Amino acid sequence: MDLERAIRDRRTTKNFTDEPIDASVVRELVDLAQWAPNHNMTAPWRFRLIGPESTAALVQIAPEDKKKKVVRAPTRLLVSVVVAGDQVRREEDLLATAAAVQNILLAATARGIDSFWQSPTIAGLAPSRFKLKIPANEQLVAVIHLGYATDERPEPPRQDLAKIFSELP
Ligand SMILES: Cc1cc2nc3c(=O)[nH]c(=O)nc-3n(C[C@H](O)[C@H](O)[C@H](O)COP(=O)(O)O)c2cc1C
Repeated sequence: MDLERAIRDRRTTKNFTDEPIDASVVRELVDLAQWAPNHNMTAPWRFRLIGPESTAALVQIAPEDKKKKVVRAPTRLLVSVVVAGDQVRREEDLLATAAAVQNILLAATARGIDSFWQSPTIAGLAPSRFKLKIPANEQLVAVIHLGYATDERPEPPRQDLAKIFSELP
């Protein structure tokens, strides 16, 4: 799949089949993630494939009405950033990690894998961080759900270019 196709075809997916993504494929995606631009090559990102035991713990910790959201897809990857002391570096590292997440989403799309960038609300709760052994100096950035969509996804329209783009003299 060419890059432009992958950019346009990537869609936030909420309903997945039970078919998991092999850990070897997730490793490929993570390897592509770290080719994102990264000022001073700080490699600030951390990626954790959430296994069955950790998933069960997150489901247990989640409030009743959120439990289903934890297990949207059969495969989940937790992405975090190591928080630097310096504010500029902190911002740059966070932005680099967001770029790394997008690499994963696009590389997944190119492989025919559907995805969902979810805010790490449940994973960010103190008991979850404790259970998953997330060090205090890491900020959670995303839970990336990976799998195969069961149905068509809505395609939220984008802005007219005239609204978001201008050419400066
Ligand atoms: C930082 C970030 C956090 C997001 N968190 C959530 C989330 O928690 N729940 C959700 O439904 N969508 C979340 N999304 C996905 C957006 O809702 C989605 O990208 C948007 O609706 C556009 O749809 P598309 O991805 O199919 O183009 C998140 C996206 C980003 C970039």
